[in-house]
Amino acid sequence: MPDNPLAIVILAAGKGTRMDSDMAKVLHPLGQAPMLWHVLDTAMALEPARIVVVVGHDADAVAAAAEEHCPAVEIVRQDEQLGTGHAVRTAGPTLDGFEGRVMVLYGDTPFVAPETLEAMRDSTADVAILGFEAAEPGRYGRLILDGEAVDRIVEAKDASPEELAITLCNSGVVSAPGPLLFDLLSAVGNDNAAGEYYLTDIVGLARGRGLSTAAVICPEDETRGINSPAELAAAEAVFQARTRARLVADGVTMLAPDTVHFAFDTHVGRGAVLEPYLVFGPGVTVETGATIRAFSHLEGAHVSQGAIVGPYARLRPGAELAEDARIGNFVEVKAAEIGAGAKVNHLSYIGDATIGAGTNVGAGTVTCNYDGVMKHRTEIGERAFIGSNTMLVAPVRIGDEALTASGSVITEDVPDGALAVARGRQVNKPGLARRLMARLRDIKAGKG
Ligand code: UD1
Ligand code: MG
Repeated sequence: MPDNPLAIVILAAGKGTRMDSDMAKVLHPLGQAPMLWHVLDTAMALEPARIVVVVGHDADAVAAAAEEHCPAVEIVRQDEQLGTGHAVRTAGPTLDGFEGRVMVLYGDTPFVAPETLEAMRDSTADVAILGFEAAEPGRYGRLILDGEAVDRIVEAKDASPEELAITLCNSGVVSAPGPLLFDLLSAVGNDNAAGEYYLTDIVGLARGRGLSTAAVICPEDETRGINSPAELAAAEAVFQARTRARLVADGVTMLAPDTVHFAFDTHVGRGAVLEPYLVFGPGVTVETGATIRAFSHLEGAHVSQGAIVGPYARLRPGAELAEDARIGNFVEVKAAEIGAGAKVNHLSYIGDATIGAGTNVGAGTVTCNYDGVMKHRTEIGERAFIGSNTMLVAPVRIGDEALTASGSVITEDVPDGALAVARGRQVNKPGLARRLMARLRDIKAGKG
């Protein structure tokens, strides 16, 4: 436990009416993860002692998503959404006896930087507010300063024309010692234009008691909230741009960064090369020095050092490529380990399989892994050679240094070093092609 334990309360009970969706707003995806996960990641970066998520609309789904990403979260239900002050107060009983600082974040504001929140955590003011200079202050609450202190926050709905002219706005992030926060909140009423309990009212109340208040200022980008499909799309663009910039700074080579789409958890090692037009789904790791060639789609896959994937490859969950493996064009790999230096270069489906080191899989090979009810495994040893267009009817095992003839339908295990031929024998009928064609032409001409 750190010297000054921190608790973070994430407000995620609101409906998000402007999203025009049945799903809770905080579950909408950003980088293919619920936006709430991004806020949880930022919260976890501060290593708080406690994280409390206030849920309301679609409560069970929001709680489940929070717990999936961060099993230690504590869930609090706000059955009626009576305002941000009411939402934080709902977390009071859960944090009863917690003596450290409490920081409030919004589940729909995913871009606040951990460094900004560290500045909030480290503020010695009784109440710290995260503010920003708004290009268009619009609906935001305004910070009314008194020298360095924040005298109060006025919501746009309640503001005078002079107050509306103020451009220093409230992000919504607040921090204060827990006991003080809940004490101030108990004095907040709802006599205002919205009829809501405003969290922002704690600032004026604190000043009235002679307590200290301060604003921490961050760039407006960080306070971007998501309230509508258009804002969600804009936020996705921001997420992608940030991810690309971070990876380039980490030494990843990207030939056309704007055409590469990342997930929230994509890991790419230094010195890896990403060609244009790639989509990364969740759970992908690309190691140092690997190359992902153009027009490939990867999810749940691990690509080791020196491996080359694509162009036009698809790696599905459980694709595990060892060093220097090669997956070429129009190849799909699912739940399969591809051994070091093994090659599957053209037009193949490899599912529920193990391929040993140095094995070559010829064009058009298919692991027939599904019998309509169950999935079965294909095991291929090391340095084997699978002839083009081999159907591997699983469960089946091909031994080390074994070979299958092109066009074989392999239904039985092939021992180490053996050659398997499983196809019809070729028969040549001399002259028959010419005779047959002549006859067909005659038929067409009505002479037949
Ligand atoms: C709030 C601030 C405003 C600030 C703005 C920044 C107040 C009174 N106003 O206004 O000063 O400029 O954010 O975006 O705090 N929520 C709940 N339960 C509730 C109400 C809200 O969980 O009962 C959650 C919402 O889901 C949302 C967040 O709290 O994630 C903020 O609520 P919202 O209604 O968007 O507040 P604003 O009116 O935008
Ligand atoms: Mg809002």
